[in-house]
Formats: sequence, structure tokens, C-alpha cells
Amino acid sequence: MTELRASRIVLREKRLEDAPEDYAWRTDEELSRLDAASPLRLPYSEYRRVLADELRYPFPWTQRFAIDTTEGKHIGNCMLYDIDTAAGQAELGIMIGEREYWDRGYGTEAITCLADHTFQTTSLKRIYLHTLEWNIRAQHSFVKCGFKPVRKVRRSSHDFLLMELLRADWEAQSFSRRAQRDSAAADRAAKGQEGMGPERQG
Ligand SMILES: CC(C)(COP(=O)(O)OP(=O)(O)OC[C@H]1O[C@@H](n2cnc3c(N)ncnc32)[C@H](O)[C@@H]1OP(=O)(O)O)[C@@H](O)C(=O)NCCC(=O)NCCS
Repeated sequence: MTELRASRIVLREKRLEDAPEDYAWRTDEELSRLDAASPLRLPYSEYRRVLADELRYPFPWTQRFAIDTTEGKHIGNCMLYDIDTAAGQAELGIMIGEREYWDRGYGTEAITCLADHTFQTTSLKRIYLHTLEWNIRAQHSFVKCGFKPVRKVRRSSHDFLLMELLRADWEAQSFSRRAQRDSAAADRAAKGQEGMGPERQG
């Protein structure tokens, strides 16, 4: 079972026990608006049946993950869809459904974790996404993950911004993240050495 760990979140496979939260988020007016969708009108029992089918017969061109905190609270979902290995690309979607976790870096961590996993384990060269032009929170988060705006796209009477993360940019970014981590670790080690009196060293 695929489980991807970052410092404050875990991406794990979806399961039927996610149905109550997923249903609450999919029927929520504001969350639907942020996703350029209409709130789901299905009764819960029907929704649960559809989810069960999706879990039993997953589409090969889609990879879905639940986002849990490291304490095990389910706070959202993210996915890669329209995975096109011939074109070397896939679209990313994310929703942190629990509002108290917005603006606290959880979404950014989940996207980075999914992008790292994708570029480390596949030969895809590009991850892209469409976000509503007015969804500034999402755009800030995507930029922090290394996504760049490409162009505006008008679809089903909504204005979206197309953004993309190219493998080459991700490689440069992970190289600089590693360098920063190494240099912080070296600083900490040097400070630790300074803190020790000569009699305690060695
Ligand atoms: C979009 C989402 C994934 C981002 O995840 P997140 O954990 O909230 O994002 P972060 O906290 O890492 O970053 C958000 C940034 O936007 C900033 N921000 C939020 N609202 C803002 C606003 N109105 N104007 C300017 N900046 C804003 C935050 O201050 C933060 O920036 P900072 O880290 O520099 O302070 C998450 O909020 C979410 O799922 N929202 C609901 C659904 C949604 O919009 N999905 C995206 C559909 S494309």
C-alpha cells in the first residue's frame, strides 16, 4: 500500500471509511465553488456506493490520495488525473476540506510530497493544473511548490489560470532544497561543537 510521508502530513490510499468526510466536502457550497463545480446532490448512501465502485475498479489514468495529518486526521484529498504517459504529463487536483487547516502550509506540503513522489517514481515530465483566476490562496500555494503560471484558460464559463511544474524546474528546486537542508545541518553541527567546552569534546 502506497503511503507517502512528509513532516506534517501523510498521503495514503483512499478507503471507504473516507466517505463521510468526502461527502461533507463534496456537498459544501464554498468548497464546490473553489473547485468550479456544483455541490453534489446525491444522497449519502448513493455517494458511498459510487465511492465503493471507484475504489474497487480504479481508473488506471488516475491516482487518488487522502491527506491525513501525521496524527491521523483526514483533512483533504489530492490526486493526479488524466495521467498520459505518452505525453509525459498529468493534471493535479487538491482540496483541503477542513477549513481550520487552510493557510497553515498543509496543502503546500501535500502538493510537494505528491510532486516529489511523481517525479521520483515515474518518467513524467510535467504536472499541470487549472485553478480559478480568483483563487489567490491556491495560486500562492502552487507557486510555493514551484508551479509557474502558463496562461489563462476559459472553460465552461469560468476563468482559470493554467499552471505547470516541469521536471527540470523540480530537479533544480529539489537540489536547492537539499543544499539548504545540508547547510542548516552543518550550521547546527558547528553550533553544537562551539557549545561544548574543550574538556567535553571528542
Ligand atoms: C488551495 C490549498 C490546497 C492551499 O493549501 P494551504 O495549506 O491552505 O496553503 P498554504 O498555507 O501553504 O499557502 C497559502 C498562502 O496563500 C496566502 N493567502 C491566503 N489567502 C490569501 C489572499 N486572499 N490573498 C493573498 N494571499 C493569501 C497565505 O497567507 C499563504 O501564504 P504564506 O504561506 O506566504 O503565508 C487549500 O487552501 C485548499 O485546499 N483550499 C480549498 C480548496 C481549493 O481551493 N483547492 C484548490 C483548487 S485548484
